[in-house]
Amino acid sequence: MTPAERLFAWRRDVRHFRPDPVAAWELDRLLETANRAPSVGLSEPWRFVRVDTPARRNAIRANFLASNAQDLAGREGEDARHYATLKLAGLDEAPHHIAVFCETDPAQGRGLGRATMPETTTWSAVMAVHTFWLAAAERGIGVGWVSILDPTDVRRTLCVDPDWQFLAYLCVGYPKQPSDTPELERLGWEHRNPARRRWIWR
Ligand SMILES: Cc1cc2nc3c(=O)[nH]c(=O)nc-3n(C[C@H](O)[C@H](O)[C@H](O)COP(=O)(O)O)c2cc1C
Repeated sequence: MTPAERLFAWRRDVRHFRPDPVAAWELDRLLETANRAPSVGLSEPWRFVRVDTPARRNAIRANFLASNAQDLAGREGEDARHYATLKLAGLDEAPHHIAVFCETDPAQGRGLGRATMPETTTWSAVMAVHTFWLAAAERGIGVGWVSILDPTDVRRTLCVDPDWQFLAYLCVGYPKQPSDTPELERLGWEHRNPARRRWIWR
């Protein structure tokens, strides 16, 4: 494996963190790297909100618990039992919390490339999340993407523009146990498939 292939293979969604924080300069650097992501019309529509206030973190945690309970309540039998055993966020352990939003119609970029596909701003912001994720993995820093949240509540808790699209709540810190296998696969919830199954020729 090349170093880059190894990075892709070992990048994980992390839900179990060590308590020691990432140095402030290093976190800044990861966010600066995320800013190098491609974006439609060079619009740079991503907005990273660093959540440090305990009260806000508690509100996000309550949001997650309520959303997760709602998801569980919609399931039955073995599916519900299995779901209940999953750990779907490292909110309590992660030393750093970063919420990511997309400004879906930013002035920057002057609309270039967005006329036929306005959703390309969202895709651009997601690319910044992935860039951040890979840059962190390269430094041995784990990232866990939490999406089991009510987006309206997240916007309210973080006092951001109500028009911003909520994309991700990232838990960031050093992983307890690096792995080359997704946790959901290790827990028998889902498994990866050979890449070729997703290829189509026309
Ligand atoms: C858009 C998106 C939303 C996700 N939301 C959650 C989530 O709410 N909770 C969670 O535990 N993992 C979440 N994940 C992580 C996935 O479960 C994980 O990427 C997948 O199981 C593959 O594992 P890997 O990232 O370690 O390869 C999310 C990932 C993506 C891309």
